[in-house]
Amino acid sequence: MSATLTREPHRVGPLADRLNGILASRGIDPATAAVEEAHAEPVTALELADAHIPARYRQALADHPQVTAWADQIARAGRPGPGGPGISEGPSLLIAGPTGTGKTHQAYGAVRTLLARGVRLRWEATTTADLHARLRPRAGHDAERDLQSLARCPLLLLDDLGAAKTSEWTEELTYRLINHRYEHLLPTLITTNLPTAELRTTLGDRVASRLAEMTERVVLTGPDRRRHHPA
Ligand SMILES: Nc1ncnc2c1ncn2[C@@H]1O[C@H](COP(=O)(O)OP(=O)(O)OP(=O)(O)O)[C@@H](O)[C@H]1O
Ligand SMILES: [Mg+2]
Repeated sequence: MSATLTREPHRVGPLADRLNGILASRGIDPATAAVEEAHAEPVTALELADAHIPARYRQALADHPQVTAWADQIARAGRPGPGGPGISEGPSLLIAGPTGTGKTHQAYGAVRTLLARGVRLRWEATTTADLHARLRPRAGHDAERDLQSLARCPLLLLDDLGAAKTSEWTEELTYRLINHRYEHLLPTLITTNLPTAELRTTLGDRVASRLAEMTERVVLTGPDRRRHHPA
């Protein structure tokens, strides 16, 4: 299964499978876990998140100073709550740069930083290509509900913005998604291969204008890490 295809928002099946895996690795029978809960070691949010982080990025560390600064800012702004601070409104982050420079790595790294710092958050991740495929009208599927769920999610990772083929329909979809997050100040991690100057022509002026106001920008440079392995 490729990393891209597994970047679907929360699904109960794989999450439950993974959780059962964690329980089993600790010698706990998932069927009796509820009874034994009081004696079990706590499963951390980071361990639970592993269930829907693609394997390639499961150990990702956000080591870019601007990315860690963004994660710090979001963590510090967390709303106090009984189980720890909960994610609140805040700036978004646009990570741009050529292929293979580590944008997706930094983005998942930022999510992992927040979880490791104890921020309670519901988050979803998708590539724009997967988003379009998922929301394409089809019988028996409520695409509007799916769009609303992504638009309202407290933290969204929107990977590869501008990389998928566009049409009037995809432009409208992107606009509605970004506009909701813009209006409600919902933190969004966006990665793109597009240089800033091309955001407007590819995504449309309405989306580019909102991104200009709502995001802090990080530009990654360097060689394609997939082709340049350290000796
Ligand atoms: N800081 C890092 N430390 C170690 N490995 C890294 C780091 N950044 C990226 N990588 C690795 O380099 C490869 C490319 O990274 P990544 O997929 O994040 O690139 P990308 O910029 O998102 O590429 P694309 O534009 O094609 O989506 C991956 O194997 C990733 O695990
Ligand atoms: Mg990527």
